[in-house]
Amino acid sequence: MCGIVGYIGSREAYPIIIKGLKRLEYRGYDSAGIALYDDGTIKLSKTKGKVEDLESKVQNEISTHGTLGIGHTRWATHGIPNDTNSHPHYSNSGDLVIIHNGIIENYESLKNELEKRGYSFKSDTDTEVLINLIEEIKKNSKVKLGKAVQIALNQVVGAYAIAVFDKNKPNEIVVARLGSPLAIGIGEDEYFIASDATPFIEYTNNAIYLEDEEMAVVRRHKKIKIRKIKDDSLVSPYIQELQLNLEQIEKGGFDHFMLKEIYEQPHAIRDTYRGRLLSDQAIIKMAGVEDNMKTFLNANRIIIVACGTSWHAGLVAEYIFENLVRIPVEVEYASEFRYRNPVINNNDVVIAISQSGETADTLAAIKLAKASGAFVFGVCNVVGSSIARETDAGAYTHAGPEIGVASTKAFTTQITVLTLIALRLARAKGTLTSSDYRKHLIELEMIPEKVEHTLSSDSLVKSIADIYKSAQNFLYLGRNYNFPVALEGALKLKEISYIHAEGYPAAEMKHGPIALIDENMPIVVIATKKGHYEKVVSNIEEIKARKGKIIGIVTEGDTSVKNLADHVIEVPETLECLVPLLTTIPLQLLSYHIAVMLDKNVDQPRNLAKSVTVE
Ligand code: F6R
Repeated sequence: MCGIVGYIGSREAYPIIIKGLKRLEYRGYDSAGIALYDDGTIKLSKTKGKVEDLESKVQNEISTHGTLGIGHTRWATHGIPNDTNSHPHYSNSGDLVIIHNGIIENYESLKNELEKRGYSFKSDTDTEVLINLIEEIKKNSKVKLGKAVQIALNQVVGAYAIAVFDKNKPNEIVVARLGSPLAIGIGEDEYFIASDATPFIEYTNNAIYLEDEEMAVVRRHKKIKIRKIKDDSLVSPYIQELQLNLEQIEKGGFDHFMLKEIYEQPHAIRDTYRGRLLSDQAIIKMAGVEDNMKTFLNANRIIIVACGTSWHAGLVAEYIFENLVRIPVEVEYASEFRYRNPVINNNDVVIAISQSGETADTLAAIKLAKASGAFVFGVCNVVGSSIARETDAGAYTHAGPEIGVASTKAFTTQITVLTLIALRLARAKGTLTSSDYRKHLIELEMIPEKVEHTLSSDSLVKSIADIYKSAQNFLYLGRNYNFPVALEGALKLKEISYIHAEGYPAAEMKHGPIALIDENMPIVVIATKKGHYEKVVSNIEEIKARKGKIIGIVTEGDTSVKNLADHVIEVPETLECLVPLLTTIPLQLLSYHIAVMLDKNVDQPRNLAKSVTVE
């Protein structure tokens, strides 16, 4: 997490960096800071709080002139969020300054060593240790900044994306990465540095994404040179043309990114299957699957690794793959999988799901699976992300940038990609008849329209949110394909409204959660037709008998649940495996409206960050 931005060129760096930091606030937002070089001095300002707090502080503290600068928005790891622990950090001499995204694991021993040599530390951060290590090496070995950074990074254990400059060398910024993303935007005689491309998209479409263990000295008026940190070898830079545009990363008239992204889902799902689902020819075309068809078809099992919402998409995929393709599937939290010595062999196919493509635990799970001989397929949204590059093959979701910290369109587009894969495999394996296969394709193609229709329940959902916004707890229940949707609905509510919520398979209710039910407990029950509908209706009866308040998510035209529930929200009918794409929508809206009514920061909920690049 943490967002880093840098600029070197002929424009004023300050507005570029501040605007860039605002775009990266989704990565962390407990403190922010900036360091600018101007006329022989470093001007540094930093504060606990958001980028707008930094802007106010800067007005009273420093002049904002300078054509070279670095900025940071923080998600605290070492040291509480306060002014001192905020980045940038100076070295003891005050000559060097650094911003860092990641964790230096061996910082304590490095710090002890530096203290013995007379260094002192103002903050509790690992980053301040790193900048002083660089300073010590630079002084002792009499090397240039780039070399000192390289030597220091070879002594460091951990993860980093860093940008460093020296006030005595005001024409260069040294950058490096291991485990945390770093992109360099290439303009006309100017360079931009950032954790992702959003801070510089209005200035250039050309970017280099540093790979792990690479560093670069970004110099004014000079071409970029990239080197391997370990052995100093030169790497030829690969300049990518970015597909992003400015509109995609702005709110477009919505009050929050989350709401915009909820409403973007019809379009995003269409983008996901565009060019892949050719229903008139009854074809699914996905190069990553086609090229590895044998591996998929010979797989003993599929292991899905992911975190958070992506893990919920993985659970939906478990039902889809097992039902349609008849391949056993296991879904694992990447954070558990990576540390529990799992049995993996080379007949396993691992599917890693990640919106950001940067989640540290998912990345580590992929590395472990690859080392054990498994074929790893990635489902990512962010093009060129670490996970997209680390996997053997993959499919992008093409959802467009997701800025709201609470994941919405990422979830539905992940399910869409996973459904396409399952359908393609089912066809190849013969586990679906050709007429069933066609039926699925046609129905999947109609999903965006049905999501659009589901979104028209927004004002109804808002009125329900108003009734229950003060509840202390919520329960979400669903069976079969709707069980992961219940988990996802509960997660959405927790993370943005801070109301405690739990998701359960509906039948599990009687094994414990039923004890929680009284007249104050709102219970969201997803009770669409099929999916053991009658059994869910019995569960609703059990809730009713205990006076729980029932919010039913039902299929259009339903009458049984309508008679029992306090409120119902309808979704259009569809095939069972596609139901999550619809039932998720009212749950996203419910959490959104409750959070807004409670005056919470919907797009940047407390303690969270969009891209979890620490374990
Ligand atoms: C929840 C949420 C998180 C992410 C999780 C994984 O709304 O956004 O739970 O789903 O941190 O992130 P990715 O998908 O980027 O690997």
